[in-house]
Amino acid sequence: MVRKVKTIADLPCQGKRVFVRVDFNVPLDDRGNVCDDSRIVATLPTIRHLMMNGAKVILASHLGRPNGEKIAKYSLRNVAPVLAKYLEQPVQFLSDCIGEEVSKAVEKMSNCSVALLENLRFYREETDNNPKFAKKLADLADIYVNDAFGTAHRAHASTEGITKFVKRSVAGFLMERELEFLGNRVANPRRPFVVILGGAKVSDKIKVINSLLEKADSMLIGGAMAYTFLAASGNTTGASRVERGEIHIAQGAMDKAREMSVPLLLPVDHVVTQTFDAEKMTIGDTAISAVNIDGGQIGVDIGPQTVEFFKKEIESAGTVLWNGPMGIFEIERAAAGTFAIASAVAKSDAISIIGGGDSVRAIKASGYAEDVSFISTGGGASLEFLEGAPLPGVEALEKLQ
Ligand code: 3PG
Repeated sequence: MVRKVKTIADLPCQGKRVFVRVDFNVPLDDRGNVCDDSRIVATLPTIRHLMMNGAKVILASHLGRPNGEKIAKYSLRNVAPVLAKYLEQPVQFLSDCIGEEVSKAVEKMSNCSVALLENLRFYREETDNNPKFAKKLADLADIYVNDAFGTAHRAHASTEGITKFVKRSVAGFLMERELEFLGNRVANPRRPFVVILGGAKVSDKIKVINSLLEKADSMLIGGAMAYTFLAASGNTTGASRVERGEIHIAQGAMDKAREMSVPLLLPVDHVVTQTFDAEKMTIGDTAISAVNIDGGQIGVDIGPQTVEFFKKEIESAGTVLWNGPMGIFEIERAAAGTFAIASAVAKSDAISIIGGGDSVRAIKASGYAEDVSFISTGGGASLEFLEGAPLPGVEALEKLQ
């Protein structure tokens, strides 16, 4: 099914109050400064379009999980200057998201101006999807725009409830791109469609594995979860992280892959070490192990033969979807596999889609972030979408089409 939602391109917005739900849930350092502004940058096309078309742009987001309390470290105050720098014009920060002061400030906004509301989750009613709260947000707007793909898996007042009270609800350009790449290009991929999955736990990824086996031409498995798959195939895994209770799940996925004739490719060698301190993020000396890992050895990355083997698959792909690192890439000696895969994905002629979460950090750390077709801004939302789960924030828009 090709998903198409109406976007801001379909609506005149001159002089209109446009409430834009964005996902500015960005990491902050100890001083409250934004340390990764990708989610802010990703919303610029929407904000600029609205400004250029004469709208009064009211931005709203959550930050962290303050659970209904007004906690200073979760304030969005420090996001406003970051955005203002990109827009090259002031962004008015309002120190609440509902109430008289906010309504008055919005009334006074001139066309083409931008205001940022305080954290929506300072009210528990936001996460409770309280209709009265949703109506208060809706009263600020003539048009509602959802550009918060990263929060689309939450049925909250500002992502779902509000659409029942605003006359016009549409998607922003970021939401449109996320649905295009993670939705349409995955559902109707240019073939061969190669899926690369990594990360620590089979249990976290099993739904996505099952869903993508229906679409992929081959699936490459790396990261710690590969050891659970290898254990399920009867290989020795030494002291590597294996989810003993999940071996049957890995077995089930391998059976499904066989039934569907989708090659499910596991590592054929590994980078191993004797010690791994997860708290300090340090490992001992490393060596290369064959597919069967001996006694006390811990697998921390895919090995060089696996890199070559995976690279060949990636080179012939029409579409590549990558979710999850191949090893502990945060540690230099366990990063080569992940970075080599990042390089292969970036250099291939395929449509390359980075499916959110840790793989985004990995592609950025590798230096190849500029060379892929699309990097999702979602974490949990990307995973749920790829699993085929309905996203309330998207469904609310589709219902209104
Ligand atoms: C995210 O960072 O994944 C989104 O902003 C959603 O945040 P949440 O998990 O706190 O709802």
